[in-house]
Amino acid sequence: MNCTRKITDDLIWVGGNDKKLSMFEGYYPVPSGVSYNSYILKDEKTVLFDTVDKSEFGVFSANVKNVLDGRKLDYLVVHHMEPDHSATIEWVVNMYPEVKIVCSQKTTAMLNQFFGGRITAETVEVKEGDTLETGKHTLHFVMAPMVHWPEVMMTYDSCDKILFSADAFGSFGTLDGAVTDEEKETDMDEARRYYTNIVGKYGPQVKAVLGKAASLEINMICPLHGLVLKNGIEMMTEKYLKWSAYEPEEKGVLIAYSSVYGNTENAAYFLACKLFEKGLKVRMFDVSVTHSSYVIAEAFRVKNIVLATTTYNNGIFVTMEDLINELISHNIQNKNIAVIENGSWAPVCGKLVKAKFEKSRNIEFIGDTVTIKSAAGGEAADKLAELAELIAEKAQ
Ligand SMILES: Cc1cc2nc3c(=O)[nH]c(=O)nc-3n(C[C@H](O)[C@H](O)[C@H](O)COP(=O)(O)O)c2cc1C
Ligand SMILES: [Fe+2]
Ligand SMILES: [Fe+2]
Repeated sequence: MNCTRKITDDLIWVGGNDKKLSMFEGYYPVPSGVSYNSYILKDEKTVLFDTVDKSEFGVFSANVKNVLDGRKLDYLVVHHMEPDHSATIEWVVNMYPEVKIVCSQKTTAMLNQFFGGRITAETVEVKEGDTLETGKHTLHFVMAPMVHWPEVMMTYDSCDKILFSADAFGSFGTLDGAVTDEEKETDMDEARRYYTNIVGKYGPQVKAVLGKAASLEINMICPLHGLVLKNGIEMMTEKYLKWSAYEPEEKGVLIAYSSVYGNTENAAYFLACKLFEKGLKVRMFDVSVTHSSYVIAEAFRVKNIVLATTTYNNGIFVTMEDLINELISHNIQNKNIAVIENGSWAPVCGKLVKAKFEKSRNIEFIGDTVTIKSAAGGEAADKLAELAELIAEKAQ
């Protein structure tokens, strides 16, 4: 069976889709699955761009054989050694023993680490600006270190003006037979969740690559996950410029809360009501219920964040502490943060929450921490209403 898709006269998608995967990278829920993209260029020479995860070996190997249709494979370009794209390299070199592996210098060492010296194919190490002629096409190699692994590189095909962007410009979600964003709309929420969680920590490195890409005329972006971008190049580049600079897409308000018995939750709802009354857009997440990846994505999207949590054995409630650790490890910056704490005898979590952001860049706290003693009545409710005023001033 042939599950390949022609993208141009010379370029064919030969990847796979996984709808059964529950946790991408062992951590991120993927309710719409994930695609592992691999592409074959059929020129005077043949080129395979990356491979797929081991879960998609069956369909991938059949796709490659179908497309090459008896031709030999001249080159395998390895943009990224993370096993979701490299696990099936061993099959490629066994199947096509004359293949040359084209990769960055750091990739060679990783090939040995992952495959214990079993990859004996000749490697062609390339560096920034190197080119490879395949006949009609010329491939230009662009190094992209730490987007999001050290060995990452991208390839620009100057003939058809295509950027092979490795993990950048990707998204969660299977393709389901589509291949470009002309055929199927990109789910921006999933594209954002993918970028912010997987690559978001490396804003400066992403910015550096965007700077290099700005000088290229690009008609198409072929990422390693998700749809090939044609329509959405400009829109997605604008998003990437914002995300990599930790600039919000809009002022909006994110309320993330944890609550054991519902009182802190009530306070969060009370605040949300006040904010909507003032015309603000609010999204709320119970951090014990919603996977952190969704909250991280929203934290990148908006400027204003409210963290409401309970004191728990003299500390911050577990799921909120986990979320804050993740926000910090994703280098979250340029945000306004309001803190609401609850404690029935010695509320301390507000102070602890603020201390966590000590080393984060450009974090402004909105007003003072609002303290709730068990349930928010009287004075605490007044303080929450005041906090709503202060947030509205920032978010209007
Ligand atoms: C297991 C547990 C440990 C707690 N530890 C503290 C604490 O160390 N100090 C404190 O002031 N409150 C503590 N609390 C009370 C909570 O901070 C909070 O006031 C209470 O759970 C009511 O808020 P909620 O309805 O949002 O859960 C604890 C609650 C639980 C369930
Ligand atoms: Fe990756
Ligand atoms: Fe990947």
